[in-house]
Amino acid sequence: MSFEPKILSFLCNWCAYAGADLAGISRFQYPPNTRVIRVMCSGRVDPAFVPRAFLAGFDGVMILGCHPGDCHYISGNIQAERKIALLRKVLSDEGVGSERLLLDWVSAGEGQRFAELIRGFTEQIRSLGPFPKTEEIEGKLRAIRTSLEGEKIRWMVGKAPELMEKENVYGERTDPERVREVLETTLREELCKNRIMGFLEAATMTAKEISDKLNLSLKETLPHLVSLVGEGRIGFDTSEESHYPRYVRS
Ligand code: FES
Repeated sequence: MSFEPKILSFLCNWCAYAGADLAGISRFQYPPNTRVIRVMCSGRVDPAFVPRAFLAGFDGVMILGCHPGDCHYISGNIQAERKIALLRKVLSDEGVGSERLLLDWVSAGEGQRFAELIRGFTEQIRSLGPFPKTEEIEGKLRAIRTSLEGEKIRWMVGKAPELMEKENVYGERTDPERVREVLETTLREELCKNRIMGFLEAATMTAKEISDKLNLSLKETLPHLVSLVGEGRIGFDTSEESHYPRYVRS
């Protein structure tokens, strides 16, 4: 059976969407596999939209914005680049579709470039085949989505530009590399915790069973369990006689 990729594209209103318009007016040919959502700026694209799109059945996601320096909201595309880099790292670490995500720039006068990007990305997704939907991959995507939508990560992502660009009362700026490291570490922690919540939806589990599923050592898993117990999201199952304590969702 021939495979026709389903691609979701987020196009910035001021550049990429106008570029798409120009491609249409100029009759540049490109494959009809893309569904378009027009956004006011690429910075408006919430990284959580990407795992949502994969879960909804899309095989690839494109985000096209204005070229650096041309964003109508000054730095929306730079912020999009930072957010998508964070998302790409987590998708790549989890092995779930980082190669199916594209962020690029198209100006209002680049109809031909728009058509070429759509053609190239559609071919890339066609060669990768349909998005693999296994229970494990869907569980990972749900955990990534929940983590990105969580208050902690949203707050940190929103605060990051201010930390890197503005001086504090001592005239210091936070090193961008340090901000990136903290964001990645916090996202990883949130992801592990949300994956544990996903495992416990189906059954109660021991710490060893959870660490095996996470592919982490018991020593690496325990802090996440302690944190979840502290937050009141999980507890111990007292209904069953068991040699080892079993965790259950609260
Ligand atoms: Fe186009 Fe910001 S307005 S990327």
